[in-house]
This record gives sequence, structure tokens and C-alpha cells, in this order.
Amino acid sequence: NRPHVGPTQCVGPDYRSESQKPIATVSTEVKYETVTTLPQTPQLIALLTFTVSLTYDDCGYRKIRDRNTERADFIFYSNRIIRLLVEEGLNHLPIVEHTVTTPVGRNYAGLMFQGKICGVSIMRAGEAMEQGLRDCCRSVRIGKILIQRDEETAQPKLFYDKLPEDIAERWVLLLDPMFATGGSAIMAVEVLKSRGVPEERILFLNLIASPEGIGNFATKFPKLRVVTAFVDQGLDSKNYIVPGLGDFGDRFYTM
Ligand code: PRP
Ligand code: URA
Repeated sequence: NRPHVGPTQCVGPDYRSESQKPIATVSTEVKYETVTTLPQTPQLIALLTFTVSLTYDDCGYRKIRDRNTERADFIFYSNRIIRLLVEEGLNHLPIVEHTVTTPVGRNYAGLMFQGKICGVSIMRAGEAMEQGLRDCCRSVRIGKILIQRDEETAQPKLFYDKLPEDIAERWVLLLDPMFATGGSAIMAVEVLKSRGVPEERILFLNLIASPEGIGNFATKFPKLRVVTAFVDQGLDSKNYIVPGLGDFGDRFYTM
């Protein structure tokens, strides 16, 4: 009788029986090939719950909207999910075979990333993802696009952008934790395309998406890959993601 909203699943490693795994609300499935959702592991679900323990009662994402989650915890657990997103995002960059010789004189046939990258954050909330990218890609270049959603109409407005001059030659990791109507992300991609970045070289890293935002985006940019941690149920009358987590920027920076 627990209050799940959305699809549920027994969560845990395959070697455990169904009865040994707690049930949690998991990401809504989407039909677009270009959208990658992080595996719905106990760790991810617990992080989205923003609770430290993974007991039967804590499992699920009831607490993701908990207004009592303190800012320090919100930042800490968001950062851990952002790290997972960045690590998964890097799997979608081009790679080539590369062999090295080990200190004992043997060869190891491995892989190497190919091509230049840069991050582009949609300010303000997207800036919260920059550190996670820097932690994985040392001295990565970062561009900024300031887009703000009108609080009444939810329409995005572009205020400012500052991007690396050679951005057209780079793979772009576009960063924004919240993907509601998709309006802000679509506007950011239009800016990138106007600077010569082809959509197939943009990777959008996102923490929580709505099915509406994903649908709008994937229809407009069928070659652009999205990596998201979780697709929620939908949007409310103010175009906030539900169940969602409220205003990410406020919770990360000011609340
Ligand atoms: C939030 C969020 C996205 C946008 C998502 O930013 O970070 O950029 O809204 O909504 P959409 O998909 O409907 O466009 P907001 O404009 O509230 O600014 P903030 O980053 O300063 O919080
Ligand atoms: N921006 C947010 O921070 N949260 C939402 O749910 C929608 C837009």
C-alpha cells in the first residue's frame, strides 16, 4: 500500500530473488532511441531519494520532493548523481583502439577517446554540473548560456552566451539538471547550432526529465543524444516536473 507514483520495479542485483528486493518507483520508459536512461540501480534510486540508508521503507523516490531535505544534503546527493551522469555521458563519445606497453613489457590493447570536447552549462542550474564534468575531464573548457524560464508562462528567454571560439570543432556536453517542457534546452541547442555545432555532436546530460520535454526535444533534434538519470511522470499546471524535486537552482544555490 505504499504510495508509488509511476512504474515500479524490484530493485537490486540479479542474483537476489524478487522477494529479497525492495520495490521502488523507477524511470518512465521512453520510446526514443536517442535517449539513454541510467540503469535503475539501488544506488541511483537511493540517491534520487536523497536519503542515506536503503532500507525497505526508504526505497523509492518519495523523498525526492521532501521540502525538508537540507541544502547540504541536496548538493551532496545531486553531485553524486551528476558524477554518474558524466561517467555515462563519456561512454557516448567517439573512441578508437589504442595499445600501450605496461611496465612489465606486455601490451595492453585498450581504447582512447578521440576528439575535443567542451561543456556548456545552461545557467543557473546547469552550472551545478560543471564540477562533476571537471572532476572527470581535467581542465575541460566550459561555455555558458544564460536562459531563464518566465515564471508565469514557462517560456525561455535567452540573456547571454559565452562559448569557446572553436566550439564548432568540439563535442559539446550540454548541462542542465532539469528538463521540463524542453524549451530551455531547445533554445540552448539552437544557440549551439547557430555557432556551427551539428546536433549529432551534442550530448545533453540531465538529471530529471519529463516525458513531454523528451518528446519535444527528440522530435526537434532526432540525432541529438540525451543521457538522463530519471524520466518522471509529467508536468503540473505551472510546467514543473512532477513528482520532480521543485526548483533545482533554488535548492542547490539559495534555499
Ligand atoms: C530551470 C532548469 C531548466 C529549465 C527547465 O531553469 O534549470 O533550465 O528551468 O524548464 P523547461 O524545460 O520548461 O525550459 P530556470 O529558468 O528556472 O532557471 P535557474 O537555472 O536559474 O533555476
Ligand atoms: N525548473 C526546475 O528547477 N524544476 C522544474 O520542475 C521545472 C523547471
